[in-house]
Amino acid sequence: MLTFDTKTTSNFPKKEFETFQDNHLSTLKKIIETNPDTDAHKNDLGWFKIDKWASDQCISELNVLAEKVRNNADVLVLVGVGGSNQAARAVIEALSKKNAKCKIVYAGINLSANYYNKLLDDITDKEVYVDIIAKNFETLEPGIGFRIFKPFLQKKYGNSYSKHMIVTGTIGSPFEELAKAENYPFLIFPTDIGGRYSAFSDVGLFPMAVAGIDITELIKGAREIRNALQKNQTVSNPAYRYACFRNYLLQNDYKIEILAHFEPQLDLFGRWWTQLFAESEGKEDKGIYPVSLSYSEDLHSVGQYVQQGQKDLLETFLIVDNKSSSLTIQPSHVGDNFDYLNGKDLWDINKVSEYSTIEAHRQINVPVFEIHLSELSTKSYGELFYFFEFAVYISGTILDINPFDQPGVEAYKTLMFKGLGK
Ligand code: PA5
Repeated sequence: MLTFDTKTTSNFPKKEFETFQDNHLSTLKKIIETNPDTDAHKNDLGWFKIDKWASDQCISELNVLAEKVRNNADVLVLVGVGGSNQAARAVIEALSKKNAKCKIVYAGINLSANYYNKLLDDITDKEVYVDIIAKNFETLEPGIGFRIFKPFLQKKYGNSYSKHMIVTGTIGSPFEELAKAENYPFLIFPTDIGGRYSAFSDVGLFPMAVAGIDITELIKGAREIRNALQKNQTVSNPAYRYACFRNYLLQNDYKIEILAHFEPQLDLFGRWWTQLFAESEGKEDKGIYPVSLSYSEDLHSVGQYVQQGQKDLLETFLIVDNKSSSLTIQPSHVGDNFDYLNGKDLWDINKVSEYSTIEAHRQINVPVFEIHLSELSTKSYGELFYFFEFAVYISGTILDINPFDQPGVEAYKTLMFKGLGK
């Protein structure tokens, strides 16, 4: 399971931080004792116990449909924006096999004609299924996806096109009515889960299963960490420690949090995390600005700012502990000045870069929180999703905002819909 560590320097006010943690323990207790069916946030807590929307029965039903799609399709187009695609995309792009029978491609993530034309061109000769995911089917991006892929499938498959159009929407919504009227297979977007918390529901699990990801393992990881987090009401609870660490630092004018990692497979997980924290906490003129960096590449760009820019950053590292890949650097026998690398393993070189970066940032007093994964596996993604969802619930509650709404995203939409004559 994930393990945790903090790396702060001697001038970090340890005592004050401990007092902060002691003072907010009632928040942890309240959250652990939450009854998601009666709590004030009951309309947003469908993810909290996991099993409500990811029971063993849900998983086996999803696997049956996913297998059918996987066997028939070359491509599944996942249409969905923000929380409706980020979790699935993070796992699929990190872990699905190169030779997977069915490739997952993404639409509904932008409004670019260039992007769509290239995508349509790429899949025109393939066997295609489409999964349109929208909690509120008024969102423009999935709406555009539907308007583009419905005629595409109709042209390709005639009257039987509807079998290729899977709809993931909420029960009782106009989207479900549309699915029924047109005979589209229907999956559930739980009404009591917001997009960014939807990894453990049909929203996240179905596309992963089509991609050949073992969703039972993902849920196993999530359940294990849920059990650990929900039975620890002390300051040693790692999600609580993390929530306190960031809130304590925010009160002390640390305004930016970097989520850094040294494995590019985690890049899209970084996007999911960024959305989770930005949308959950950035409101009422509060919150920490979350930014995800992919090292070592970003050390050659943003790394300069981290080292010598404003001192208002904290940094959370995702660290993969066990060696899962190996590549020995061979002598080159030319004068390239890299002989100090001869015989070294690239995995170990990356590790030296990782601990040197943490040390360099510590030396300039960047407070560091470390999250260690034993390996990058499906199970560890389950742990990561649940850990951060649980942590942002605690963190947002300490911050005294509602971590489940996102009223700020409406402003541009009002202007955009006006511009489009809606
Ligand atoms: O996390 C959220 O709630 C948002 O990011 C939504 O997932 C996103 O806006 C897409 O919404 P919808 O599924 O209603 O199209």
